[in-house]
Amino acid sequence: MKDSNALSRKRRAAPSFLDPLGGRAGRSPALGALSTELIHHAYEPPAGFAAPQPGVHKASTVIFPNTAAMRARNWKEKAGYTYGLHGTPTTFTLEERIATLEGGRHTLLLPSGLAAITLVNLALLKAGDEVLIPDNAYGPGKELARNELKGWGITHRFYDPMKPEALAGAIGPATKLLWLEAPGSVTMEFPDLVALIRVARAKGVVTALDNTWGAGIAFKPFELRAADGEEPLGVDISMHALTKFPSGGGDVLMGAVTTRDEALHLRLKFTHMRMGWGVGANDTETLLRALPSLTLRYAAQDRAARALAEWFARRPEITQVLHPAMPGSPGHEHWQRLCTAAAGLFSVVFDERYTTAQVDAFVDSLKLFKIGYSWAGPMSLVVPYDLSSIRDTPAWRGVLVRFSIGLEAVEDLIADCEQALPA
Ligand SMILES: Cc1ncc(COP(=O)(O)O)c(C=O)c1O
Repeated sequence: MKDSNALSRKRRAAPSFLDPLGGRAGRSPALGALSTELIHHAYEPPAGFAAPQPGVHKASTVIFPNTAAMRARNWKEKAGYTYGLHGTPTTFTLEERIATLEGGRHTLLLPSGLAAITLVNLALLKAGDEVLIPDNAYGPGKELARNELKGWGITHRFYDPMKPEALAGAIGPATKLLWLEAPGSVTMEFPDLVALIRVARAKGVVTALDNTWGAGIAFKPFELRAADGEEPLGVDISMHALTKFPSGGGDVLMGAVTTRDEALHLRLKFTHMRMGWGVGANDTETLLRALPSLTLRYAAQDRAARALAEWFARRPEITQVLHPAMPGSPGHEHWQRLCTAAAGLFSVVFDERYTTAQVDAFVDSLKLFKIGYSWAGPMSLVVPYDLSSIRDTPAWRGVLVRFSIGLEAVEDLIADCEQALPA
């Protein structure tokens, strides 16, 4: 390293009109020189600091020791650093941990789960291509297809994920990407993922799963098996809204895109770099802090959600409880075959004799459950949905209420629902 202090000592001796902060002999050092010393101070902390918590590195600029090193470094590799947007020790650490969680090899981080969905679409599709999206997919992802993708000449088709036998007929020569989501958003149908992937693979279509619900815990997206002992048939890409379970605090927005295949990862990484989608060090650190308790939180919210779902199943006001682990819920048999756990999330459908206003009155009467989007945070949340407005399928009728179960005592949550139902 250059001796920065020697540089500032030399400057201190020559205050001038152009250096109004310059010091005088025998008096305080020049303020300008002091700034230089505070920025270029020669002290370097000893190497080898070790603590359980990873450091928080904040940088746009990364300093190279010399020009040869600058020329030798490659932003695509993790052997060195080139620029804050391309990665820091903090973001590389989170990428490695999310890849481990998902059972993948490479992870890219994005500013939200929706941005992660966007990255996959932009990296893999061009004008003239078609993308297939489950009709029960996360709504804003469908809106992206209906608006931006359409405007860029990329067509889409919504397919019924509960009918894998019909998928082959929906895939045409222009189809390049098949989205999967397990279970579907809000209506919670759990598809036969292996059957869907098998069709896509046979047709040479890349598969991308929104794995936010499974979170790398309920099932392993790259190692799905039709039955015990069978060869694994995994997805090509796992997209994850880290906003939900990995954060767990309801205080960070972030997304991840994980792959096993190096070439596919590089396709995604080029687009990621060119779009300038970086994540902040503080958000990354918040996630790194939350990850150690992820499996405990997931299990606790799973337990509480099942207790509450069972309680609702016994209520006369409710015609259906939509929770993949519950017998009778759509696709329960696929959940049973593929999963070892479930997220703390379920929906209930009110009997048709109740009006939207009555169901709203129930939701408004809840005290512990707060009305708000998102899930997997410490506070339980609730959102009413008018089914006909979110699904094209005419089979869906009535008012549905989705519950995201937090970390409160389950008996308090049941008591809250009990006091609100008479409303
Ligand atoms: C299934 C699913 N995928 C993706 C997202 C998007 O995540 P984010 O809110 O981080 O954009 C959400 C958000 O609710 C979601 O529920």
